[in-house]
Amino acid sequence: MARLIFSLLPSLSLIASSASSVLPPINTNTNTPKIEPRVPSHYPCDCFLVSGPDPGYFTDYKLWDFRSVPLPYSLNHGAYRAAAADLWEAETVPLSQSGFKSDWQAQSWSRHKTLDSIVPMVNSDLNAFFARHPQIPDASQLVLRTTRLSNYSSTAEIESHQGNFYRCSLRIRMRLMSREAVSRSPIDPSPHVNQVPKGACAGIFTYRSATCESDLEFLTSDPPNTVHYANQPDYDPVNDIIIPNASSVVTTLPSPWSAWITHRMDWLSNSTTWYVDDELQANITYGVPDRPSILALNLWSDGGIWTGDMKTNESVYMGIEWIEIAFNTSAAGVPPLEHSQRVHHRPLKSERRGSSRKRQLSGFDAAAEKCKRPCYLDKI
Ligand SMILES: *[C@@H]1O[C@H](CO)[C@@H](O)[C@H](O)[C@H]1NC(C)=O
Ligand SMILES: *[C@@H]1O[C@H](CO)[C@@H](O)[C@H](O)[C@H]1NC(C)=O
Ligand SMILES: *[C@@H]1O[C@H](CO)[C@@H](O)[C@H](O)[C@H]1NC(C)=O
Ligand SMILES: *[C@@H]1O[C@H](CO)[C@@H](O)[C@H](O)[C@H]1NC(C)=O
Ligand SMILES: *[C@@H]1O[C@H](CO)[C@@H](O)[C@H](O)[C@H]1NC(C)=O
Ligand SMILES: *[C@@H]1O[C@H](CO)[C@@H](O)[C@H](O)[C@H]1NC(C)=O
Repeated sequence: MARLIFSLLPSLSLIASSASSVLPPINTNTNTPKIEPRVPSHYPCDCFLVSGPDPGYFTDYKLWDFRSVPLPYSLNHGAYRAAAADLWEAETVPLSQSGFKSDWQAQSWSRHKTLDSIVPMVNSDLNAFFARHPQIPDASQLVLRTTRLSNYSSTAEIESHQGNFYRCSLRIRMRLMSREAVSRSPIDPSPHVNQVPKGACAGIFTYRSATCESDLEFLTSDPPNTVHYANQPDYDPVNDIIIPNASSVVTTLPSPWSAWITHRMDWLSNSTTWYVDDELQANITYGVPDRPSILALNLWSDGGIWTGDMKTNESVYMGIEWIEIAFNTSAAGVPPLEHSQRVHHRPLKSERRGSSRKRQLSGFDAAAEKCKRPCYLDKI
């Protein structure tokens, strides 16, 4: 194992107290990313408000900020001729050995090949790790990785231990990268190249079952301004048809998925709504999840029509700076999850539908009765 692992990781205190956080919007310029620390509130808040047409309020809030995880310092650091990628690898820490493991579990189940998915998938907890940030000196990022090996895909999925999220406004600052881009040093003066190999799918989702899920997915075979939004299931495998109104493909993202952007998904009672950097992208009222769920992120490839296949030895990386969520909870009837059952049935042809019309955010009604001391996640 080439990885240097320090066993004495500090126990990180990672989760903002829900009672003491004021939440200024993070308007990080994609060209010159900076760490913008969350400003602690000068007053306690008893609820959390987001922008959008009367979304109601949320009772809880969490922030997982992955930008300041202590990384092992490679003994090879500065060594003559050490390849940048090897050095970068040596300075990583598995998620499963960090304080974040109390909230997030890296999965290790696998999936056999099928008629549609010709490459077996093996989730490995070593594919979820912290690494140096490629653009911000002295910062870290959470990285998910998938690698095509000769007889299978090594893939990544992390899932929240908490399974009672019941409606939320979820935000994730992320970027898809090539090996060169993810392992680049922030002080490297050479041009920043990021040619992400085709054939992988990155997903962010709330999940209870195959019929209770809201998600966003990026296919690296797509043009980089394309994203797939859906309330699952969005496909009927018996009749081989796309279920009307369950999904939306947006081909005009304001920034490509190969750059840092903030994705937002609002799972509300009668709609799921997606935003990019505060701009509305899609709103789906069909098939909105109605049961308590987990949160999950994955990066995978199975050689099927949905993802396509990667070339042997190619890797795709998903960098995540932070995950933020305002949410409600419910304990009502939560059966155990069957993780490996989360298999998307996909149409035989990956259909392209029109992008949804964009609208600006409207204001919101903060005057909810039991929400007297709100904290705001968005600019008003
Ligand atoms: C969250 O829970 C509060 C308190 O029960 C409720 O008033 C509010 O409408 C809920 N928010 C959403 C988005 O469902
Ligand atoms: C891939 O091949 C290796 C070496 O033959 C074998 O040990 C491993 O079980 C195979 N993995 C899968 C998922 O087929
Ligand atoms: C899909 O949306 C259209 C227009 O918004 C509506 O007329 C139709 O009934 C919807 N179909 C389903 C299956 O919800
Ligand atoms: C959601 O739809 C139900 C049923 O149509 C309705 O009773 C409820 O008021 C709606 N909730 C919101 C927040 O609009
Ligand atoms: C989504 O559509 C529903 C139903 O038309 C509407 O009530 C809601 O305001 C829309 N949400 C946004 C963010 O436009
Ligand atoms: C994959 O990488 C291994 C180890 O570096 C090498 O031996 C092998 O030839 C590579 N295979 C391909 C198809 O590039």
